Amino acid sequence: EKGGFEHFMLKEIHEQPKAYRDTMLGRIDNETKKVQLPELKMTEEQIKNIRNVQIIACGTAYHAGLVGRTVIEQLVRIPVETDVASEYRYRSPIVSKDTLVIVVSQSGETADTLAALREAQSNGAHVLAITNVVGSSIARDADDVIATLAGPEIAVASTKAYTSQLIAFNLLGLYLAQVRGTQTAEEIAHTLAAMQALPEQVESMLEQAEAIKGYAEQISKHEHLFFIGRGLDYAVAQEGSLKLKEISYIHSEAYAAGELKHGTLALIEDGIPVIALATQENVLEKTVSNIKEVKARGADVLAITYEEHVAPLLKSVDQAFAIPKTLPLLSPALSVVALQLLAYYASLALGHDVDKPRNLAKSVTVE
Ligand code: M6R
Repeated sequence: EKGGFEHFMLKEIHEQPKAYRDTMLGRIDNETKKVQLPELKMTEEQIKNIRNVQIIACGTAYHAGLVGRTVIEQLVRIPVETDVASEYRYRSPIVSKDTLVIVVSQSGETADTLAALREAQSNGAHVLAITNVVGSSIARDADDVIATLAGPEIAVASTKAYTSQLIAFNLLGLYLAQVRGTQTAEEIAHTLAAMQALPEQVESMLEQAEAIKGYAEQISKHEHLFFIGRGLDYAVAQEGSLKLKEISYIHSEAYAAGELKHGTLALIEDGIPVIALATQENVLEKTVSNIKEVKARGADVLAITYEEHVAPLLKSVDQAFAIPKTLPLLSPALSVVALQLLAYYASLALGHDVDKPRNLAKSVTVE
């Protein structure tokens, strides 16, 4: 049942190239180089009228929503907010019939997300669900559904569902951009080609899992560590931190790299591991200055970046892990794989129950 893997989580990490391919299958027209989402009931007119987007989810799906916010804002230039479902309902969200609400849920059964969906619908919003279970309560209640085709996810720690959600957000963002004319045909074709390259790129990363394993064994000896990054790297930092806490029980925090000096820097002391995500080239220099800030306080820094930046970055960091080159909006779909492996191998080194971490359930059906 685990297909020769020791744990479901490792199997599911390895299933990501297939999950990416399956989620894109039939949704990219290779002749016209356009996105097609025939399952959507939303009309072109409704799409043109969207004034704002609210993304709602919990846990890892919320982290996918943080990436989704940037993807949609960049591609479609409409304001997007991302909320944790258990908070959304109680903040009197401002919703109109021109609000597109996107709920994200692997299981489609998360109670808080389902309640937020109903709240948004009762306020008149059109609700689109991105879910991995088409027969779920969330899929049934939503006005529109984009299915992620990751296949069943058994491990409590979500991996392939998250990355398939990233694919779904990019497809949706490109589709909205196509309808609203906010991206040229060339830009869309270029992004689609980069998306189609992702599965092989993930495969090449999985071949380097041993390097991550070695680093995971080092950090498993620590009690605290930090993840830092800017922009989408910050979103991925949050997901990496959750994954590590969830299955290795090592305390970690994810920080927007520029926020450190507003308090957290006080916690950086000799030998503390800091994992710096550095893929967003428009802010790379700024991230490097933040890396220098923690280095100066004795941190032991691992950078996750593109090959071309490894040599220059090694002047400021202790170790670097290179990921394949892709477009800025797509980098989370690659960098997160390194962090999934890191959490997995740290949990393994500590002898924890990787697939069934303490206190947690796969599907949270209570509010
Ligand atoms: O099924 P959902 O996507 O709605 O679940 C949401 C969270 O409970 C889930 O992502 C949780 O955070 C994962 N265990 C994290 O790995």
